[in-house]
Amino acid sequence: MARCFVTRDLPGSALERLRAAHDVDLWPDRLPPPPDVLRERAAQADGLLCLLTDAIDAGLIAACPDLIAISNLAVGVNNVDLAAATARGIPVGYTPDVLTESTADLTFALILAIARRLPEGMEAVRDGSWITWEPAFLLGRDVGGATLGIVGMGRIGHAVAQRAEGFAMTVVQSSRSGGMPLGDLLELADFVSIHCPLTPGTRDLIGAEQLRLMKPTAYLINTARGGIVNQPALITALREGWIAGAALDVTDPEPLPADDPLLDAPNLIVLPHVGSATHATRERMAGLAVDNLLAALAGDAMPHRYPPPPAG
Ligand code: DGY
Repeated sequence: MARCFVTRDLPGSALERLRAAHDVDLWPDRLPPPPDVLRERAAQADGLLCLLTDAIDAGLIAACPDLIAISNLAVGVNNVDLAAATARGIPVGYTPDVLTESTADLTFALILAIARRLPEGMEAVRDGSWITWEPAFLLGRDVGGATLGIVGMGRIGHAVAQRAEGFAMTVVQSSRSGGMPLGDLLELADFVSIHCPLTPGTRDLIGAEQLRLMKPTAYLINTARGGIVNQPALITALREGWIAGAALDVTDPEPLPADDPLLDAPNLIVLPHVGSATHATRERMAGLAVDNLLAALAGDAMPHRYPPPPAG
């Protein structure tokens, strides 16, 4: 029996499978374990099942002499120091595919909500500022027929593109493996939607220079990672009208402090990182994370190890 530290309770029954095979030390709170507690509890473990809110850095990995597997409950692995894990021969598991459709759905919800000003409309109904039907009240922009620019054409980018077909949108893309140069996409798109991973190469990918390339009528959507967009630049872009608005499911940090200036910027929607938050998707993510940990603890290959082996 191996010892596993699991940094948060998981939806569904996946943890029961882990408990049936191994000793499970479960962190019970809603908030993540503080860094010193994470280090102390992980240091006792052979297997670690962690979340994107847990920083699994080189210092933590070095403090865990027995650790043989890290299973991250996310498709993004930017919270794990992959080089440090690889140097120790520790496989890192992730949860691809199962959250693709939910995240693409939320991306489209954000596109529609920011373009058609849904939060403002809801507010107007509740606060009584909607007094009658008026020809020029709460005018937004059409999504149907618009041009969607997808930055990062992986699984989620493709799923967003599929949805865009149903809206008769023109889809352009820019990614490591092809598409158009990012600058051209930014100049062309009515909606720019971010779907690349956060890496040292994509941190601040969208800064002042890039936001200035966008049309003043265009919207920025981010359901990937907050660090890909430079937030001070985005605040200026929104305040000065360089772009029409932004809809974010992710920020840096998460959550934003209540007094963060981003929250006062106009034409902005911010959600609490809920791209994959459906019952079915979160249960599937938990299932994959447990599958990864069980496999590695049994000495087998993780079904979903990061990075995935090259295709073919
Ligand atoms: C992920 O998995 O990386 C998402 O951001 C959360 O589901």
